[in-house]
Amino acid sequence: MNKAPIRKAVVPVAGLGTRFLPATKSMPKEMLTVVDRPVIQYVFDEARAAGIEHIVFVTGRNKAVIEDHFDIAYELEDTLRERNKRDALAILEAARPLAGQTSFTRQQAPLGLGHAVWCAREIIGREPFALLLPDVLIKADRGCLSQMMDVYAERGGNVIAVEPVPEDQTHQYGVVKIGAGGDRVYDVTGMVEKPPRGTSPSNLIITGRYLLQPEIFDLLETQEAGAGGEIQLTDAMLQLMKTQPLTALEFEGRTYDCGSKIGFLMANLAYAATHPELGAEFRATAGEYLAAL
Ligand code: G1P
Repeated sequence: MNKAPIRKAVVPVAGLGTRFLPATKSMPKEMLTVVDRPVIQYVFDEARAAGIEHIVFVTGRNKAVIEDHFDIAYELEDTLRERNKRDALAILEAARPLAGQTSFTRQQAPLGLGHAVWCAREIIGREPFALLLPDVLIKADRGCLSQMMDVYAERGGNVIAVEPVPEDQTHQYGVVKIGAGGDRVYDVTGMVEKPPRGTSPSNLIITGRYLLQPEIFDLLETQEAGAGGEIQLTDAMLQLMKTQPLTALEFEGRTYDCGSKIGFLMANLAYAATHPELGAEFRATAGEYLAAL
């Protein structure tokens, strides 16, 4: 099976963030801060740690600040240099790509995740690529995408990250049906997007990290609207499975759904509690506060 190297990643960032209004009225939800970095930075860092060299952001209106975030802030950095603020400069340098390592294209209408991915087809070209959904932060010793790259190196084809959730939550996600496998790696035999309650084929959901072969673009081209009236990536992957293997990895790590308020707050809690500089003080102070409630 195709094991061509995966060099590029797609990160869809066109969503409106209505669940976080008014915080997201003039600021993209991907720029909301978890402790000391915007959500999108965690996803960017996970991709780079997995060897990704170029990231394609699929954006929409009012998302230009994401492009600024990954650029050099000339006036700011010049001022920091004049004032000899080396630590601050080092933080900025570590957080950004080199020139030419990002692309930005717009999803012109909110037609669904499948459509957002399809919008990247010209920039990705005919090579396999990673897809990371930035609502999902995954806290792990070894990044989730790196774990998936290990599976890809062995199996090639298509790889998706999955995790178990309680039965009463499966209707909110794409859900997979698995066949043979073991040691957290399984053949996927079926999948369905947002199955109505009581109809889910398993409790293993698709987590928001994918390694996909370029043939997915051909399928997305003609994919009709599915769950929620949107063009669904899950429906196109189900077609792809007819001709190519698709592997599920039950990754090691914990997921924080930053598309929901509680998930976003829990992400702040988790990353603060383990932060190299703030962790100890945060745990002590937050512990005292919670104990006094
Ligand atoms: C998307 C995918 C779904 C996946 C989920 C993970 O859904 O369509 O298969 O389980 O991300 O967060 P959305 O969150 O856009 O509704």
